[in-house]
Amino acid sequence: MKDNNVQRSQWGSKIGFILAAGGSAVGLGNIWRFPYLAGENGGGAFVLIYLITVAIIGFTLMLAEFTIGRYSQSNAVGAFKNIDKRFGFIGFIGVIVAFLIMGFYMIVGGWSLAYIFKAITGTISSTDPNFLSNSFNELVVNDFQPIFWGGIYIILNIVIVSSGINKGIEKASKILMPALFVIMIILTFKSLSLEGAMAGVEFFIKPNFSEITPKVILNAAGQAFFSLSLGMACMVTYGSYLNKSENLVKNAIIVPLLDTSVAIMAGFVILPAVFAFGFTPEEGPSLAFVTIPAVFTTMGTNLGIIFSTLFFILLTIAAITSSISLLEIPVAYLIEQRKWTRRKAVIITSIIVFVMCIFSSLSKGSLSHVMIGGKSIFDLYGFLTSNILQPFGGLMICLFVGWILGKKKALNEATNEGTVKFRLANFWIFLLKYIIPVLIFLIFLSGLGVFNI
Ligand code: PHE
Repeated sequence: MKDNNVQRSQWGSKIGFILAAGGSAVGLGNIWRFPYLAGENGGGAFVLIYLITVAIIGFTLMLAEFTIGRYSQSNAVGAFKNIDKRFGFIGFIGVIVAFLIMGFYMIVGGWSLAYIFKAITGTISSTDPNFLSNSFNELVVNDFQPIFWGGIYIILNIVIVSSGINKGIEKASKILMPALFVIMIILTFKSLSLEGAMAGVEFFIKPNFSEITPKVILNAAGQAFFSLSLGMACMVTYGSYLNKSENLVKNAIIVPLLDTSVAIMAGFVILPAVFAFGFTPEEGPSLAFVTIPAVFTTMGTNLGIIFSTLFFILLTIAAITSSISLLEIPVAYLIEQRKWTRRKAVIITSIIVFVMCIFSSLSKGSLSHVMIGGKSIFDLYGFLTSNILQPFGGLMICLFVGWILGKKKALNEATNEGTVKFRLANFWIFLLKYIIPVLIFLIFLSGLGVFNI
């Protein structure tokens, strides 16, 4: 099974993989989604549950996905099938989830592209909450503009993913990720020095335990899956391009650390600004787009324009390194299982995604009256994936590695035939077999309201 005759590509270097997997994890989820969900879900309480989920589930599941991927050297569906024919469906759910996420992710990527131009032209050089919120709303409720920008954004993804893994994905991540990190550090300092910033810091880090409701738990745990790109065979697919000599354990520690540090930095940029300028933490999806220009504007008009343009360029790039990993999931599946060419797979997948994007974007404008289960199409894609299907996929992946692949093979792969030191090896298997499945199950029950009295 490992020696199939199709020549598969591999990551060119160690750092290339960390940046690519880190690039998949770090994206709009960290900078756009995490701060606004924290704002809507009680701040510190949400952050606490988020961190607990990352600590317990993040590393364990990420290592499980890398292990499956590199063991079977195959795409999302093939990876599971190679190990046991009955379980291809776990990967198939991942393919569906990738479509659903792309159905709104590409639109937000488009917002970010549009904001590069808003920033350059100085149209968002303001610290006025009303002005900035209006400017954002004008864009998103428009029936044409976000679809136009989303379309351009999708084309950028097509170009990268068509070039394949080393030339496209790896090269892009190598340049873009470090640049983003640096600008986030600058922004954090700037935001923390704003007058009134401390109220935001307190909101963000001080958990109010009475705010820990089932809804907050489900949202925070779901966000952890979303942000780490877990539970949908994304890291299985990326892991399948990993060289046999790479240290999986180390990678599974570094990537969640990198991802979490960017999310926390984003929180320290955005929430202090919310309080300093008089935005409300419950703003929702507009939060990053309205607060960040305000922070930059305090640097003076010219510097503000330069930095905010740079920021939205980097945000777009961070988004792209994630969305190419989303696109790669169906693409790798179509190439290897269905024998399509890369080009055909990329184009057809992108067309379907574009159509889904039209609906999610219009659900903020002309289709805003269409509600499914009380949610707009845009929100529904996000809820179904991060809160339901990704945790479910994660549950299946844990059980799969623990019980189907089995301890011996899993540890062999995870430790490169025993050559890599992994002190917690037995504990990792124990977590996979028993603890994490039970935890995810409890999160679901709590989300269904079973523990409400
Ligand atoms: N983790 C990415 C982000 O935070 C989104 C993503 C989810 C990418 C699932 C791939 C798979 O932006």
